[in-house]
Amino acid sequence: MYEHDVIVVGAGGAGLRAAIAAQEEGADVAIVSKLHPVRSHTGAAEGGINAALREGDSWQDHAYDTMKGSDYLGDAPAIETLCQDSPEEVIQLEHWGMAFSRDDDGRVSQRPFGGLSFPRTTYAGAETGHQLLHTMYEQLVKRGVTVYDEWYVSDLAVTDESRPEDRTCHGVVAYDIQTGELSGFRATEGVVLATGGPGQVFDHTTNAVANTGDGVAMAYRAGVPMEDMEFIQFHPTTLPSTGVLITEGVRGEGGILYNADGERFMFEHGYANNDGELASRDVVSRAELTEVNEGRGIDDEYVHLDMRHLGENRIVDRLENIVHLSKDFEGVNPLEEPMPVKPGQHYAMGGIETDENGETCVGGLYAAGECACASVHGSNRLGGNALPELIVFGKRAGQHAAGKDLGAAEIETGQRGEYELGEVDAPVEPGEVEPAGDAVADGGVAADAGTVDGHDVVERAIERERRRIRALMDREEGVQHAEIRSDVQETMTRNVNVFREEEGLKRALEDIAEARERYGDVFVKDPSRTFNTDLIQTIETRNILDLAEAITLGALARKEFRGAHWRAEAQERDDDEWLKHTMLSWNDGSPELWYKPVILEGENKTYEPKIRSY
Ligand code: FUM
Repeated sequence: MYEHDVIVVGAGGAGLRAAIAAQEEGADVAIVSKLHPVRSHTGAAEGGINAALREGDSWQDHAYDTMKGSDYLGDAPAIETLCQDSPEEVIQLEHWGMAFSRDDDGRVSQRPFGGLSFPRTTYAGAETGHQLLHTMYEQLVKRGVTVYDEWYVSDLAVTDESRPEDRTCHGVVAYDIQTGELSGFRATEGVVLATGGPGQVFDHTTNAVANTGDGVAMAYRAGVPMEDMEFIQFHPTTLPSTGVLITEGVRGEGGILYNADGERFMFEHGYANNDGELASRDVVSRAELTEVNEGRGIDDEYVHLDMRHLGENRIVDRLENIVHLSKDFEGVNPLEEPMPVKPGQHYAMGGIETDENGETCVGGLYAAGECACASVHGSNRLGGNALPELIVFGKRAGQHAAGKDLGAAEIETGQRGEYELGEVDAPVEPGEVEPAGDAVADGGVAADAGTVDGHDVVERAIERERRRIRALMDREEGVQHAEIRSDVQETMTRNVNVFREEEGLKRALEDIAEARERYGDVFVKDPSRTFNTDLIQTIETRNILDLAEAITLGALARKEFRGAHWRAEAQERDDDEWLKHTMLSWNDGSPELWYKPVILEGENKTYEPKIRSY
């Protein structure tokens, strides 16, 4: 068993920032990651980092835009923390040598992005995430932080008191992809989950194949509530054949969307009379699909994004990467013709419930980045707010895990503060088909409070995981994970997409339940110990199943139209009934639905919900 003060799971932007921060607090910190750090999905982020840096802008305006973008479902303490801390973090990156694009006067450039009242998105061409990742990786190497890369964390080691709020996380169990060794990683101070989003729940996504929501699913099964899972962002400009992202920066620089009739539909059909292409993403994605559904799409599938009028010099200076992506993945040279684009899954607004210090309701367990929900984005994230979230909350989680006092959090986690139980009219029984003994708290050790030895908790978690893997490997025939995974992805993309209606959501739940049944017979065909991706993907598929179900349950339960969640049966935002966070807790393998209030009271003001138009 390995032992460190702080274990960070995942090596993308949030994980690297958490590790650096914990190390700066004096902790012995290690990163455990299924990918090498510079292969993390943060490297695919293109557009930029929002930060109020210039005269005429303020963190208060950034916070207002973010709250409006969230359709008033974000929590003010988290939003204000993001907007206050982001400028300092951007300056820190610049001091670490990040190659930001610059204006002629040498200042870091900023460009307009959707839903922003000021051009506050800093960027590095159209490869901001790549630059960010490499800049922080350099810092990691410089500091000598231990990295266990190509280790797949498959379980948490958590005690099993009946209330999640009384449990403690003592570490993780991980599988060495290179050797097949299963080992425990004990964390004496804290575990930070920074495992990214669940994009692979859908089949048309901008997300990497590695984005299977592992940390979210592990935390869920360990009893940590999932928050606002139904809010999934569909980015308006993805390449139709692959889902590859075409950055919002194209529209930020002046790119224009046209329908098959050559109409600039964002204005001409009145979707966003002020901001047009730079309305927030939920608005633009719905507009594109409405055009397609009403017969004004191209090939009944997509619309055009044209940037030719920007001129080759400007395109190459600020968006060169887009030229390569469009040529390589769609065979279209955007210097000569418009790019075909359509909405694709891009981001999960919900995730592991945390407070603004990254702490979950389980002692010693933190989360940051896309896997977490603090909640900054509410029901719709603004473009350019994901990267600042990684660095701001990654840093806070790392510091807190290493013992730094960040002051008391205002956001309460778990069923501690005000909450109400909910109900959902699901057509099938959700949850595990046959609840396993590990359903309550993965890693559980029947603990007499006060006498738990962290080492034992991790040992037991290893033993349980060993049994689980042996069972998967011993089966000689059955269903292969790929079949189950693609069926789930297909039903999610068909039924839990930009436009949602009750019947489709129920069908998705039935399909997921059926896929769960088949997962009971899943088998791993590849018997080898080294680089057994068949085994890893089989384990990931269980995570995909749990998260697909959580997303769909939340979507079925929420009978209103808010942000990215559009419901055919309820065409209005309903603040009287639905100004609340959807929470799901995994009780003994069966999801429990509950709700908690949104915090609209900020430092110096209360954000009053208004009609949201762009
Ligand atoms: O469009 C983009 O470049 C994506 C940015 C983001 O998701 O924040």
